[in-house]
Amino acid sequence: MKHLLSAADLSRDEAVAILDMAEQMAATQAREIKKLPTLRGLTVVNLFFEDSTRTRISFETAAKRLSADVINFSPKGSSVSKGESLKDTVLTLGAMHADGIVVRHSASGAPYQIAHSTWTDASVINAGDGTHQHPTQSLLDAMTIRRHLKGGAAAEAPAGADRLTERAAALAGQDLSGLDVMIVGDVLHSRVARSGVDLFTTLGARVTLVAPATLLPVEVDKWPADVFYDLDRALAEQPPDALMMLRVQRERMSGQGGGFFPSPQEYSREYGLDARRLAALAPHAIVMHPGPMNRGLEITSEAADGPRSVIVEQVANGVAVRMAVLYLTLTGAKE
Ligand code: NCD
Repeated sequence: MKHLLSAADLSRDEAVAILDMAEQMAATQAREIKKLPTLRGLTVVNLFFEDSTRTRISFETAAKRLSADVINFSPKGSSVSKGESLKDTVLTLGAMHADGIVVRHSASGAPYQIAHSTWTDASVINAGDGTHQHPTQSLLDAMTIRRHLKGGAAAEAPAGADRLTERAAALAGQDLSGLDVMIVGDVLHSRVARSGVDLFTTLGARVTLVAPATLLPVEVDKWPADVFYDLDRALAEQPPDALMMLRVQRERMSGQGGGFFPSPQEYSREYGLDARRLAALAPHAIVMHPGPMNRGLEITSEAADGPRSVIVEQVANGVAVRMAVLYLTLTGAKE
């Protein structure tokens, strides 16, 4: 695997192999010395044209744990603010012999443009492009779901490094077949939802999307997912094993005249995860959110911090998934 541009590019076996590798990476992270020599001598550039907290830090941590040299490049304070183009920026990075470029950009397709250009021969990993794709997010989501809902007791109870190896073995080879994943909220602007639908269905799960019609893309009927406009009805008719709440992406709504929903209060009432809906979930069901959360809008603090919430685990699993992806793309590219 030279690049990771879209969750839709992964076959079931490729996706399972990445998750298995991520479990092995996670097992190494319980050791006293977390650093592996795997990518020593290679350079990874984090090229983030759009704001990010956890994704950028997660990629940086992952690359450093694998002993790569890491360069963080963000356009503020660089020549990009002087109007330098994507092409010239990447040519500059190419001249510095970057082996991997992790890119986040507000334009859907920017990582493809870089990967398919002659500007660089580095591996390109998409860390979120516009409203299009965010493949490592859906992989860390799948890892979190698999760990909680597959693999039985050995997968559930992590304690000590030896148990982690046991857990990796219990999960190895498993996909998400038989599971119900429900994704709720601002699907229209969400690369997390698009990547999730692609990956979870490839892994055999059934995906249900719930949103007001104004926050669904026009082509949603062509997606391999069931669609509901009524959250309570969806929860009753297709009770989820994993319930993923999406952030209302207000920054992508400006300039479009607003009007995606009548008021924040009404959005919370119709589509928010509150105590009543939380209590209606199956006993084993988990609550997810990619972050950053709008507490009180799409999710209450009670739900975000409650015993079903795996939101902090999602962040931790992100490091393991990104270690696996960096390893597979950068070493695959060298062979
Ligand atoms: C997501 C993103 O940037 O696409 N966040 C993330 O990567 N953790 C989701 C979001 O911003 O709502």
